[in-house]
Amino acid sequence: MENLIHQLREGRLKKHAMEEGRGLVFGTHRSPAAECAPFDIAKLTEQYQVGQKVSGQPYRYLIRTYGCQMNEHDTEVMAGMLQTMGYEPASDVESADFILFNTCAVRENAEDKVFGEIGRLRPLKQRNPELVLGLCGCMAQEKGVQKLVQDKFPWVDLVFGTHNLHRLPQLLTEARQSQETVLEVWDYAPQTMENLPKVRAQGTRAWVNIQYGCNKFCTYCIVPYTRGAERSRLPEDILDEIRNLIADGYRDITLLGQNVNDYGVDLGNMTFAQLLRQVNSLEGIDRIRFTTSNPWNFTQELIDAIAESEHVVEHIHLPVQSGNNRILKRMNRSHTREAYLHLVQRIRDKIPGVSLTTDIIVGFPGETEEEFQDTLKLVEEVRFDNAFTFIYSARENTPAATFEDTVTLAEKKARLKRLNDMQYSISREKQEQYVGQELDVLVEGPSKTNPDVLAGRTRKNQLVLFAGTSALVGQHVKVRVTEPQTWLLKGEIVSHRGEESA
Ligand code: 5AD
Ligand code: SF4
Repeated sequence: MENLIHQLREGRLKKHAMEEGRGLVFGTHRSPAAECAPFDIAKLTEQYQVGQKVSGQPYRYLIRTYGCQMNEHDTEVMAGMLQTMGYEPASDVESADFILFNTCAVRENAEDKVFGEIGRLRPLKQRNPELVLGLCGCMAQEKGVQKLVQDKFPWVDLVFGTHNLHRLPQLLTEARQSQETVLEVWDYAPQTMENLPKVRAQGTRAWVNIQYGCNKFCTYCIVPYTRGAERSRLPEDILDEIRNLIADGYRDITLLGQNVNDYGVDLGNMTFAQLLRQVNSLEGIDRIRFTTSNPWNFTQELIDAIAESEHVVEHIHLPVQSGNNRILKRMNRSHTREAYLHLVQRIRDKIPGVSLTTDIIVGFPGETEEEFQDTLKLVEEVRFDNAFTFIYSARENTPAATFEDTVTLAEKKARLKRLNDMQYSISREKQEQYVGQELDVLVEGPSKTNPDVLAGRTRKNQLVLFAGTSALVGQHVKVRVTEPQTWLLKGEIVSHRGEESA
């Protein structure tokens, strides 16, 4: 297996680093700091304006987003480009002239859903000849998906990859004029793009990319292939973006990257811990979150920075994937069960009460019952606040897809249920400890089901529901917890910040 991983890495290295003689660094490939290029919004406005339809109506777009927060944020960038071109958002597929699937390739079932949807939308193409159907995101990077679209879904007009996102205006314009599917998928990102327009969701929260790509090559994971090698944005670009967000009233900033701990490794003169401290000292900053961290490269410097930066919240998402060392090794995770537990201890020593969440895969090829029980024991020992749990899904061209898989699907489902049952009861017990406590809640808006009830988040990212008026949106309130549930806390307002300081 090691050999396979090695070969894969070498394959990627040849193009970038190996030719220049830089070779592997600690078992992973390192590309040079990506060149940073400004995006030309003026050109977009001048050259790719869509104008109006013959009916006088504007062109309308709808983006369906699957997968992680990185994808959600990419959608905000694409919406920004489309609106600069003159597109307006559509409320449903029937009124849209451009429907784009921003896809996730991490598990097969997400892919199946997308193809199901594309199949169902085919009749719309006959009803609206102006309709352009597009597919982008991680699935588009897969050769198998590109071929499948060409062979079986020829009514898809446009396919572009994660590294071609900024080319959307040109590609969409081409697709409108072409009879054939326009396909542009680059294998790697020659540049990181700055100044891309964005249409962010209104509210208190905003995402900010700090780093793209992943160099870890966990054997089950497709992300290093779909998102490419790690590239960091320059700190000044990140800080500028956050300053603007603060000025626009955003309170809760999430720093995004596939591997945020590795921020700055390619820049050479900056660490993630230093970036956190710089963001923390921005005038007017409120809450700072980050995701995703790898247990690998989670340095003491980083733990100290989180502990000492008052605006960085006490919540760390720290995927463990398995509690068994043989499986972790076959996953190429670069951490052992013991190293993970030791890291958890170090984090808890320095950040008391920290909320820890994780990702876990069950049914990795060859996982025995005893090995699965090691995962259960780890979950019992760490007592995560929450866990995202998945059944292993074989992904195209990843090393694990070639491993012999003897565990039946029924057994994998049973393991997932046992794991979830355990985690749900831990989450529930943890939530119950909050009864009677007064929590600092940042009010986000009305709850999804009742306009008279407000929803907000604690620093640890717990959802809190309570009665209150919309004037409180965007403010901090103190809420006393009255009714804890597994996924949310219900409570009543005790005070808001104004009263507190009075
Ligand atoms: N099968 C199942 N789960 C996966 N993940 C990544 N790749 C796979 C796969 N092939 C999970 C991991 C990761 C999360 C984002 O998705 O737990 O942390
Ligand atoms: Fe995938 Fe995360 Fe592993 Fe990178 S660190 S290969 S994104 S699971």
